[in-house]
This record gives sequence, structure tokens and C-alpha cells, in this order.
Amino acid sequence: MGEIQTKWFLSKKGQTFVVRTALPQDADKVVSFVKTVVAEAPYLLTTEAEFNVTIEQQKQLLQQMLQDNGKLAIVAEHSDEIIGFLDFHNGNRQRTKHQGSFGMSVKYEFRNQGVGKALLTVLIDWAKAHPWIEKVCLEVIADNTNALGLYRKFGFVEEGIKTKAVKLEDKRYCDLILMAYFAK
Ligand SMILES: CC(C)(COP(=O)(O)OP(=O)(O)OC[C@H]1O[C@@H](n2cnc3c(N)ncnc32)[C@H](O)[C@@H]1OP(=O)(O)O)[C@@H](O)C(=O)NCCC(=O)NCCS
Repeated sequence: MGEIQTKWFLSKKGQTFVVRTALPQDADKVVSFVKTVVAEAPYLLTTEAEFNVTIEQQKQLLQQMLQDNGKLAIVAEHSDEIIGFLDFHNGNRQRTKHQGSFGMSVKYEFRNQGVGKALLTVLIDWAKAHPWIEKVCLEVIADNTNALGLYRKFGFVEEGIKTKAVKLEDKRYCDLILMAYFAK
């Protein structure tokens, strides 16, 4: 089961928040959280127009993730509000199931307060304790200095660059940096 024990954290502004497993009944909150983030985060690969996951689809996805030991979906929550979300998916074949990729985002008003660090700490602890997940990967747009700084701080190493992999609306290209963390 892709589950964690709920953990309590204190933000840099002194607000408490928890990091817990995202449950199917969180689907509506997760959908509106992701909608808000894609609308204002310039360095995400999904655009606002492309994000059209329904609450029912999200519910099913969260249910599947809960039942799959190689997946993890977690939320950071403050006063019943989702302020951060992270999802990890391992490979779906025998030879790739020991590794996987994740994406994460934090609500704009809560950034730079330690919420991203809390989500990443929980993911890495889960991977370290996991019986067969060995490698945690991600792709990040090269201009996303905040995210890069966070990942480097946690010991993620750069494995390669996909040159001009992203083309923004203003026709500007960005490279995608491949990063990885070895949990074992
Ligand atoms: C990337 C993101 C998830 C980080 O979450 P966050 O809650 O703001 O991050 P935290 O406050 O926990 O951690 C910030 C850490 O990142 C690092 N960091 C932040 N900005 C940095 C910068 N400009 N240069 C270097 N390091 C930086 C620091 O190490 C900092 O740690 P510190 O507080 O000990 O100094 C958040 O900015 C976000 O949601 N961005 C939009 C979506 C996105 O880009 N997601 C990632 C896609 S790969």
C-alpha cells in the first residue's frame, strides 16, 4: 500500500501543518489545488487549459495509488486546506519497478516556508524504508531555481539534460534537467 504515517511539521512562519497520505475522499480538494497551482506556476509542464481531470477520475487515481505499493500520493495540509501535493509513480515493468518519478507543488502563499522540504523528506523516508524502491527521479525545467535548489539540498544529482525539451507560449525554449536520488 502506498501509505505513510501522518507527520506534523512547523512552517517557518510558525504555522503547523501535516503531511499525510492523499485519500480518495480528498479528490475534490486535490483537483482544485492542482488547478490553482497550474494557473500560476510558470515552470510546470501541464498548462491550465490541459488540466481537465475530473473529481471522479482523481478519486479513482488516488484509490489505485493507495492500493499500489510502488506509488505514493501525499498532501500537506493546514487547517483543512491542502497547501502541497506530491505524487510518485514507479515503473510498471519488472525491470523498472525499482525506480520512479515524482512531481510536487506547494500553494503560492505557502512557498519558502518549508512545506516542500517536508513533502520531500516524507517521500525520501518512504523510499528508504521501502522493500524494493531504490531510485527516485524527477525532471525539472532548468530555469526553476527554487526547485533545483531544493532538490540539490536533498542530495539529488543531475543525470542529464534534455535540451530544448520545453517550448513555452512565448516560443522560448527551456532545457529539462534529469535528477535522481538513490535511496539504497
Ligand atoms: C518547488 C517548490 C515545490 C518548493 O516548495 P517550497 O515549499 O517553496 O520549498 P521549501 O520552502 O520547503 O524549501 C525551499 C528550499 O529550497 C531551496 N531554495 C529555494 N529557493 C532557492 C534558490 N533561489 N536558490 C537555491 N536554493 C533555493 C533552499 O534550499 C530552501 O531551503 P532553506 O529554506 O533551508 O533555505 C515550490 O516552489 C513550488 O510549488 N513551485 C511551483 C511548482 C514547481 O515548480 N514544482 C516543481 C516542479 S519540478
